[in-house]
Amino acid sequence: MTTGRILAIESSCDETAAAVVTRDLRVLSSVVSSQIALHESFGGVVPEIAGRAHLEVMEPVIEAALREAGGSITEPGVDAVAVTAGPGLIGSLLVGLSSAKALCLAWGLPLLAVNHMEGHLFAAQLEVPDLAFPAVTLLVSGGHTEFIEVRGPGQYRLLGATIDDAAGEAYDKVARYLGLGYPGGPALDRLAQLGNPKAISLPRAMKNEGLDVSFSGLKSAVIRAVDGDPSLAIEDIAASFQAAAVDVLVIKAMRAVDLVGARTLVLGGGVAANSELRRRCAEEAHAAGIACALPSMAMCTDNAAMIGAAGWHQFLSVGPSSLRMAANPSWQLDMERDA
Ligand code: KG4
Ligand code: ZN
Repeated sequence: MTTGRILAIESSCDETAAAVVTRDLRVLSSVVSSQIALHESFGGVVPEIAGRAHLEVMEPVIEAALREAGGSITEPGVDAVAVTAGPGLIGSLLVGLSSAKALCLAWGLPLLAVNHMEGHLFAAQLEVPDLAFPAVTLLVSGGHTEFIEVRGPGQYRLLGATIDDAAGEAYDKVARYLGLGYPGGPALDRLAQLGNPKAISLPRAMKNEGLDVSFSGLKSAVIRAVDGDPSLAIEDIAASFQAAAVDVLVIKAMRAVDLVGARTLVLGGGVAANSELRRRCAEEAHAAGIACALPSMAMCTDNAAMIGAAGWHQFLSVGPSSLRMAANPSWQLDMERDA
């Protein structure tokens, strides 16, 4: 007898997460245990510490997700186990994948190995079930900045990407330079809301060219401006950086929307929690007469519910993965790519 539910597990970076998701993409439970406090004093994720921390909390996190959905370790009440198999930190991925395989063996259930980035692409659909396709999804996280045409679940085309730093990486680097700690994106975002975005004139790299973006020069430009005028207020520096970073992302996203005739602009990934990016995308999408899908903060950052959604798609369209499936730290999502 099927239950119409799957258990999903995520441990690719610094969040240990488990969720139970139904076939019609209702989230019955979504438990996330963040390691931010453990990595804070090092100014970034320390892979060795991340792997060990996943090991410590994986089992209680899975139990909590099952319990909240009315199940237990002995009576899971699910049809399959979905798990992130890449991309991510190898030591972290292995904890989730090994746990998932052990549960599949114990419960006699199929394994669904999911690509983490496909999870981010599905996050919006958990909250906007009637999302109109084709969509352009701007995937912005600590490791990714990609503009993707989504014609439907599983049908992706890469339209553009960063040629150097990811957007979240740029936020984290500038935040570190300003002494805002780790992860710097949220702190920089809060400060920016108090400053003048026109205080410093910063470059909008590659603004008029294609759909790729570049962020490496922006950090250097911020440092040059601050060195040249030590009296600049930190709020104004933050606001000027944020205006430049968001400007480029929004200009390219809307260019991508025009190119593919998208009906929805979707945001995904940790930087999709950024207040200015959300405001500008909603504004521009409205002006263009298309929908804008902004996932809640909990769905922007890493979680297992989105892995469950991608897991269901895989279960129904491709089928289960082999229990011999290996973790792949650099697993590239299967997308059409323009030459
Ligand atoms: O997707 P995510 O949780 O982890 C991965 O990188 O996969 O994204 C984390 C990134 C970090 O770089 C963090 O600084 C950034 O998202 N971030 C933000 C905001 N919230 C998180 N960046 C700018 N503004 C925010 N509000
Ligand atoms: Zn992520």
